[in-house]
Amino acid sequence: MDEKKLTTIGVLTSGGDAPGMNAAIRAVVRRGLSSGLKVKGIQKGYSGLLNEEIIDMTAKDVSDTIERGGTVLYTARCAEMRTQAGQERAAEICREHGIEGLVVIGGDGSFAGAQKLANLGINTIGIPGTIDLDIACTEYTIGFDTAVNTAMEAIDKVRDTSTSHERCSIIEVMGRSAGYIALWCGIANGAEDVLITEKYDYDEQKLVNHIIASRKAGKKHHIIINAEGIGHSEAMAKRIEAATGIETRATILGHMQRGGSPTCKDRVYASMMGAMAVDLLLAGKTCRVVGYRHGDFVDFDINEALAMKKNVDDYMWEVCNSLSHNYSKRSSAML
Ligand code: ADP
Ligand code: F6P
Repeated sequence: MDEKKLTTIGVLTSGGDAPGMNAAIRAVVRRGLSSGLKVKGIQKGYSGLLNEEIIDMTAKDVSDTIERGGTVLYTARCAEMRTQAGQERAAEICREHGIEGLVVIGGDGSFAGAQKLANLGINTIGIPGTIDLDIACTEYTIGFDTAVNTAMEAIDKVRDTSTSHERCSIIEVMGRSAGYIALWCGIANGAEDVLITEKYDYDEQKLVNHIIASRKAGKKHHIIINAEGIGHSEAMAKRIEAATGIETRATILGHMQRGGSPTCKDRVYASMMGAMAVDLLLAGKTCRVVGYRHGDFVDFDINEALAMKKNVDDYMWEVCNSLSHNYSKRSSAML
């Protein structure tokens, strides 16, 4: 049976932006054009699709973008896409614009939209783009590497002033309900405590005891990395200061973690994923998501990918704790 030859594809970014998304867009555009396809850029995610904010992309349109943070296609969250009527309209608009294949760069929510479009006959491929690293089918998501390096550098700076003033510092990092940025910074910054929803027992007295013990052991600062999912850093700082008598400040890093020029890893991996998404469409694939596992770029069925679960690695968590959190306990135990 003769398969209809693919002629036109679209690309959009959806959900929170992430450094490296431009590299993925650029790869989709250039891989697509060099494979003889027309490539359309859809602005502002599903919202722009439903408003038909669709532009033809040339190779030049993505010049000077690989080094830039954010997304040149803009992004949005779109409630209408969650409805069946919205999904049907989105598929109809794709057909009206000749978009037979669509590359969706975003997180799990965006993939759910891509899955619905695939069910409605539009070939879709998802690319994991989120600083949170919270997509189960992949060990890498676009933007995490840049965001975690940005957070790490900011925490180093807070640590300098924290030491000078002999303070305790609570630094809140992003990640929605996932603790990957916090955990990686916990190791990279040598934090005394790391609080993540996946592991925190909400025993604040234990935390207070650690702070007092490490101060007694001679530590000049006490860095607590608090994941966004736990939050309430300001209130926590007040309670800790009252309980320990040690001056305590809270710093919420916020959206600065989402910006900035992507790292080499984010540029390269995002480029690989963008190119692979186009190759999958050219091979007639649909309802797939690109991932990175055990050193390889791979693809999964979106339904299966969305059903997968991801957990913080127990060994990594244990190592993180053994290198900082149990400072006084380990040193006394080893003597
Ligand atoms: P992320 O893609 O980073 O997980 P969101 O969860 O905010 O971010 O999802 C991004 C967008 O994807 C939403 O604003 C919505 O338009 C679309 N989306 C999310 N969930 C669904 C769903 N179940 N069905 C269809 N579209 C969805
Ligand atoms: O998913 C990326 C992320 O930055 C999360 O870490 C954070 O919880 C959320 O997006 C913030 O979203 P917004 O930009 O809508 O405030």
